[in-house]
Amino acid sequence: MIRTLATAGLAAASLMGMGGAVNAQSGEVVLYCAADEAICRLLSESFQRETGINVLMTRKSSGETYAQIKAEEGQPRGDVWWGGTGDPHLQAAQEGLTSVYQSPMLSELQDWAVRQAETAEYRTVGVYAGALGFGYNTDMIDPAGEDAPTCWADLLDERYRDEIQVANPNSSGTAYTLLATLVQIMGEDEAFEYLAALDDNVSQYTSSGSAPIRAAGTGETSIGIVFMHDAVAQAVQGAPIHVVAPCEGTGYEVGSMSLIEGGPNPENAKLFYDWVLTPAAQELGAQANSFQVPSNVNAATPEQSPNLEDIKLIDYDFALYGSSDERGRLLARWDSEIGAR
Ligand code: G6P
Repeated sequence: MIRTLATAGLAAASLMGMGGAVNAQSGEVVLYCAADEAICRLLSESFQRETGINVLMTRKSSGETYAQIKAEEGQPRGDVWWGGTGDPHLQAAQEGLTSVYQSPMLSELQDWAVRQAETAEYRTVGVYAGALGFGYNTDMIDPAGEDAPTCWADLLDERYRDEIQVANPNSSGTAYTLLATLVQIMGEDEAFEYLAALDDNVSQYTSSGSAPIRAAGTGETSIGIVFMHDAVAQAVQGAPIHVVAPCEGTGYEVGSMSLIEGGPNPENAKLFYDWVLTPAAQELGAQANSFQVPSNVNAATPEQSPNLEDIKLIDYDFALYGSSDERGRLLARWDSEIGAR
């Protein structure tokens, strides 16, 4: 009830501001969604139901979405890019692919979400946060065992030969977060040495960031390197998954949202943008097994969400690792030293 009223009020206020009438809501909005399918669908259906605006949603991984928006530069077909890791959103902002917008909801957001907006001079905003880690299948690795993996370093053990999956950092924001995290923890050359050694244990580089933990859940692989909340989602759904916050410390994402510059439906895009930052919309995450920390301070964090305060987080340099030069350079080095192995 509260959700319906708040949302209707917001949509009405914006439409009145545009000189429209409350029930003149119509048309469509083209959503590029870079998180998991279930939350992408739930947000689309809920917005459509509450506003009457038709949502045309496509789901792709973060790096793929960035690449699509880049390819469509000059003839944009999308309106809003919701979700996925923040680094490619920052790169898109720097390249002018996304528009400046200061939502009235900004004042309700966590500091880390506002900082993300400030870093991009308001061409993006934080919608959720989550820490990187890994998960493993407890039928294959005993969490009580002395040699159960607890650190990044443990993943290099030869007993995990062909037993680890992680995504490709070109397509996946999760895997790019891993790359940038290791560079920040170890130094760049050491991080690439680590990734080369890890490659001996990797059976597959998936295109989506969360696919490795689904594979671990079904026993197709033992270990998946993913955001911790994606491992929690498998466990919540009954898969035998143990979630690890690596002992050396770890990086995190500020999942983000941007308006695509020159998109076909800019007013509906803003309505979606403001709506999806409301507490009610952010609280839909739990229903879709999306256990990130929401960015609106008034939205309840799902009880299953990993508590970021209990995790040793690095001071991730989003401005640097989300810049065109650095992201482009690190991905090129990954292609030549790891992808080409
Ligand atoms: C999952 C996580 C999100 C993350 C996204 C990145 O959906 O739940 O928190 O932003 O992965 O996806 P990608 O496929 O780009 O790694």
